[in-house]
Amino acid sequence: MIDEAAKLLARSRFVIAFTGAGVSAESGVPTFRGLGGLWKHYRAEELATPEAFRRDPHLVWEFYKWRMRLILKTKPNAAHMALAELERMGILKAVITQNVDDLHREAGTERLIELHGNIFRVRCTNCGYREYLKASGRVEKFVGKKSLPKCPKCSSLLRPDVVWFGEPLPRKEIDEAFSLAERADVVLVIGTSGVVYPAAYIPQIVKETGGKVIEINTERSGITPIADVFIRGKAGEIMEQLLEKIKGLIG
Ligand code: APR
Ligand code: ZN
Repeated sequence: MIDEAAKLLARSRFVIAFTGAGVSAESGVPTFRGLGGLWKHYRAEELATPEAFRRDPHLVWEFYKWRMRLILKTKPNAAHMALAELERMGILKAVITQNVDDLHREAGTERLIELHGNIFRVRCTNCGYREYLKASGRVEKFVGKKSLPKCPKCSSLLRPDVVWFGEPLPRKEIDEAFSLAERADVVLVIGTSGVVYPAAYIPQIVKETGGKVIEINTERSGITPIADVFIRGKAGEIMEQLLEKIKGLIG
């Protein structure tokens, strides 16, 4: 299976990657639905919806600050690194991710589309103010504060710049992702249960426009039925092997 995937990727013209929480599992970032997943311990409706934030912003901010602190202690794993290397080799044109953990960026991926936002970015609930906390070096101070974060421009409540259940995906990102999917002749789907839409349409668009779907997952997912190649395994381990085989093929 890995050999078949390596051949497809080495021969490809326009590869994109579509990733979910499973690509960050080996970095120690909890997934949502698998064993030990966040939604197994918490109710998503109470923490990741606009209603939850309106009802109890303190609780929602506590949850996101806890996740920010946890993610700050993690680093990209071999899967993130391999994807950044495939981009440098000119094989991978873009990573489209559902993850908000910033690990693809930390690994060096340049062309990155974050469909569900970024946990280290905050935005104002009132004016257009947005801040990427890592750029302004304010992350540690921000997660350490107990009080509700307020907009420096208009003093309204700040919120995590992530997409909650029931919210639309950012227009620019979803348009760019769909047009990349139409151009791709191969999509490398890594570590997603493939049950959250519209993100999960990405591999289907590649398939419908004649492309091939390669999936890496520790178990079958909602994408597996349309996968041309399904590789059961851990993202870090498989991506490391895949990268070596591709290098061997293109010399
Ligand atoms: N390697 C590869 N795949 C893995 C690994 C691993 N080490 N560990 C877990 N997986 C797989 C699981 O089998 C599962 O199919 O990763 C997938 C994780 O699925 P989810 O937890 O549902 O995460 P994801 O698909 O990214 O969720 C999509 O739902 O909660 C919302 O907005 C949130 O972006 C998230 C979206
Ligand atoms: Zn504001």
